[in-house]
Amino acid sequence: MAKRFGQEARQLHDTAIGKGRLLALSSARFDLVPNLTLAVVLVAGSATVASGGMTLGELVAFVSLQLMLIWPIESLGWIIANAQEAMTAADRIYEVLDTPPSIVDRPGAVTVAESRGHVRFEKVGFTYPGTDAPVLRRIDLDVRPGETLAIVGATGCGKTSLVSLLPRLYDVTGGRITLDGRDIRDIQLDSLRRLVGMAFEDPTLFSMSVRENLTLGRRETTDDEIYEALRVAQADFVYDLPWGLDTRIGEQGLSLSGGQRQRLALARAVIGHPRVLVLDDPLSALDVHTEALVEEALARVLHGTTALLVVHRPSTVALADRVALLDGGEIAAIGTHSELLETVPAYRAALSAEALGVPDDVVSR
Ligand SMILES: Nc1ncnc2c1ncn2[C@@H]1O[C@H](COP(=O)(O)OP(=O)(O)O)[C@@H](O)[C@H]1O
Ligand SMILES: [Mg+2]
Repeated sequence: MAKRFGQEARQLHDTAIGKGRLLALSSARFDLVPNLTLAVVLVAGSATVASGGMTLGELVAFVSLQLMLIWPIESLGWIIANAQEAMTAADRIYEVLDTPPSIVDRPGAVTVAESRGHVRFEKVGFTYPGTDAPVLRRIDLDVRPGETLAIVGATGCGKTSLVSLLPRLYDVTGGRITLDGRDIRDIQLDSLRRLVGMAFEDPTLFSMSVRENLTLGRRETTDDEIYEALRVAQADFVYDLPWGLDTRIGEQGLSLSGGQRQRLALARAVIGHPRVLVLDDPLSALDVHTEALVEEALARVLHGTTALLVVHRPSTVALADRVALLDGGEIAAIGTHSELLETVPAYRAALSAEALGVPDDVVSR
């Protein structure tokens, strides 16, 4: 890999040097031609003036006119070159902007402002676009208003896929998901995403301030609500950042640790008290101490909120009213934690195997 990297770095270096050379050469030519012409005009002009073929005034007028024209013509060259670069860049941006989104409002989709938070999965099947093998098959779930359902299962069994269907990050390919009895595809995407708060395992933070990241799509959020959400997520570290809530983070800003990013994502999910919460293993990168604090605060938030919670550790399972065990894209068992512990050996195995594994991104404060 180092060798390949070396080769490609060398290639990039050579291309850049080549470009520099070309630029230097062409700008030298740009400058040389008018100046050479000027020299010729001066020499030939002086000779003509001396022999009386032209007055001195005519020569001066000609030279000043020539000097006036050189600059605009030269810059025209640069403008054309820059315009070509800009057009290439714009092409790339338009490629993204022109991609038609595959998840759109159905005709006749309605705005829903209030919800009881009754979520049902009815014979839901799901296959990723462009693949053949279904990831989820015949999923039936009934999450009552205010209930917290934990989803447990081995890595790769489809937990993330399952919970990302509810905020419509993907659309089901079979069956349907309903919110208060209405197919979520008949709810306007805007209002659905307002009702469903979400935090995923590998959170995306954008290159903007902490505040903007937290209030994404909820511009009307007050500082008190932000404070409360940060407390739930134990993310008060943001107040210690150089510019507090206005610190820029993400690609072009301050980089945060995995645990810090996860806590910000969690704060973003709970801000504004969404009726339904989708949390995909939101505590996986936290140290045990912070995890316990977040769980305590989260328990209060989950009270009265319908939630789908992907969990790995037994301690987090305690937050849930019921647990569904997912195996190979199907619900293998569903019940309370203690019921499953007693009657389903696979559940015991899934939990204990996870409990022994140490997340690779443990961050201590
Ligand atoms: N974007 C995707 N495109 C195609 N296949 C995917 C995609 N994301 C996940 N998968 C596949 O779907 C299966 C379930 O993945 P996932 O839902 O992430 O599992 P879990 O969260 O339980 O670990 C895996 O086999 C994975 O390879
Ligand atoms: Mg996952």
